Amino acid sequence: MARILITSALPYINGIKHLGNLVGSQLPADLYARFQRGRGNEVMFICATDEHGTPAELAAAKAGKPVAEYCAEMHEVQAGLAAGYRLSFDHFGRSSSQRNHALTQHFAGRLADAGLISEVSEKQVYSNADGRFLPDRYIEGTCPNCGYDKARGDQCENCTKQLDPTDLINPRSAISGSTDLEVRETKHLFLRQSAMRDELNTWIDSKTDWPILTTSIAKKWLNDGDGLQDRGITRDLDWGIPVKKGDQDWPGMEGKVFYVWFDAPIEYIAATAEWADANGLDEDAWLRWWRTDKGADDVRYVEFMGKDNVPFHTLSFPSTILGSGEPWKLVDYIKSFNYLNYDGGQFSTSQGRGVFMDQALSILPADYWRWWLLSHAPESSDSEFTWENFQASVNKDLADVLGNFVSRITKFCRSKFGEAVPEGTYGAAEEALIAEITPRIRAYEANMEAMEVRKSATELRAIWVAGNEYLQSAAPWSTFKEDPAKAAAQVRLGLNLIRLYAVLSAPFIPDASAVMLEAMKTDDTAWPDDVAAALDVLKPGHAFTVPEVMFRKIADEERADWQQKFAGVRA
Ligand code: MF3
Ligand code: ZN
Repeated sequence: MARILITSALPYINGIKHLGNLVGSQLPADLYARFQRGRGNEVMFICATDEHGTPAELAAAKAGKPVAEYCAEMHEVQAGLAAGYRLSFDHFGRSSSQRNHALTQHFAGRLADAGLISEVSEKQVYSNADGRFLPDRYIEGTCPNCGYDKARGDQCENCTKQLDPTDLINPRSAISGSTDLEVRETKHLFLRQSAMRDELNTWIDSKTDWPILTTSIAKKWLNDGDGLQDRGITRDLDWGIPVKKGDQDWPGMEGKVFYVWFDAPIEYIAATAEWADANGLDEDAWLRWWRTDKGADDVRYVEFMGKDNVPFHTLSFPSTILGSGEPWKLVDYIKSFNYLNYDGGQFSTSQGRGVFMDQALSILPADYWRWWLLSHAPESSDSEFTWENFQASVNKDLADVLGNFVSRITKFCRSKFGEAVPEGTYGAAEEALIAEITPRIRAYEANMEAMEVRKSATELRAIWVAGNEYLQSAAPWSTFKEDPAKAAAQVRLGLNLIRLYAVLSAPFIPDASAVMLEAMKTDDTAWPDDVAAALDVLKPGHAFTVPEVMFRKIADEERADWQQKFAGVRA
């Protein structure tokens, strides 16, 4: 039995994610976790909310709530949505947890002891009215280049010119609008990533099996001259993890917190400790996933994320791990994704464009979304959600192919043989079907193992189609008139196929899979290493029931309706 540690990029706390975010990390991570559990492997699947930083503070202020309260509430909202999409995390933690405080401070202390942290004095804009330092993008003013009056301190959105806050004419705080700003001196910690370049290069070079999307992004930043700059890992904010060296105070760093991107990936580790705490387990229970000196040397660690997250996971987080000098587990494989676009444009959280996780579930159950998103995952290039395509895939793959198969077999059996598997010996056509789907099942396994999400969906669909075509040509409803025994064998194979489909399809459509197993009155979910044996699990006399309609078709009018409803911008 293999041991597999799986993490998905941590969703930021300040709002509900759109479907593009979902398909770019959490959903494919869940697919892989479910598949590996189905194969009998030991899986630890970890996610958490990413709770620190200025956007969290501002979102809380906008909601009129203390930031801790806002984050606690939003965590519950996100946990509810994760459950709604059947994301099977072993633990869904919080980066604001005590565990993450302690681990983040621990790593910072180790890095400092290793000489990998420098202290730098900087000049930064301070807003007297807001009582805080302002990050560049929270300073607004008039662009010196084009005159646009809402240019941000880092860039003008209108003419795209890169700016420094001091370039702005009439600068003001984007938070309060106050112009009572001054430049103050402040000290920050920098992680000396540049000192890690050789070590990182050697490590990335050893990853010859990684997707090109992942390594090309990593290499670009590593070798791009100024790519691997030393990185500020502290901020002048209230909300966050106080800057400490282990459990010691850090002179000169009073009142400062770690930068959100420093503590967030450490939460992968901390959330596993939170899992152990939540289950009343000891330290060794989580250390065996993370410390190679405590049993994690045989763990395979796989991360899932969108391409914008790759630099942080190939350079920054590994710098933290390697720089600590302690035997923490480094990632073994990074599966990264391109972007999903929405109906001719981009999904956008800030503009509220597209379909968001809560909205999608309010119109159709999780499996419909899981199937469409995963079968159209933006792997080799960006992909696009359109309502027409969504309707066509759902109606064809789920309703016409899989749903129809289950319904026809179970109803026909009930009407001719009753609600139990009939007697019958498989003949040439049944052997032919087994011969046809066996290599497809092997290909499905190989693609799932390789995290080739679309290819896996294509094989699974082909396996469903093969069953439908078999049924169409075997036509037990005609056979029955001449040769009821033969029809019985055909039906017996069909019922066994339903169980097999439930096992194979569970990673993609877990709810439908549960319905199929329940209808077949079995909890035998053994993986079909031997396909002929797997199609002989339900023996003659085994009772079953006819399930409710598994998938309903999407009508043209509703499709048009949704298209309309989601065309605009979310309030
Ligand atoms: N919150 C980040 C985002 O939404 C992802 C953080 S992943 C982490 O892009 F591991 F670094 F936490
Ligand atoms: Zn401009």
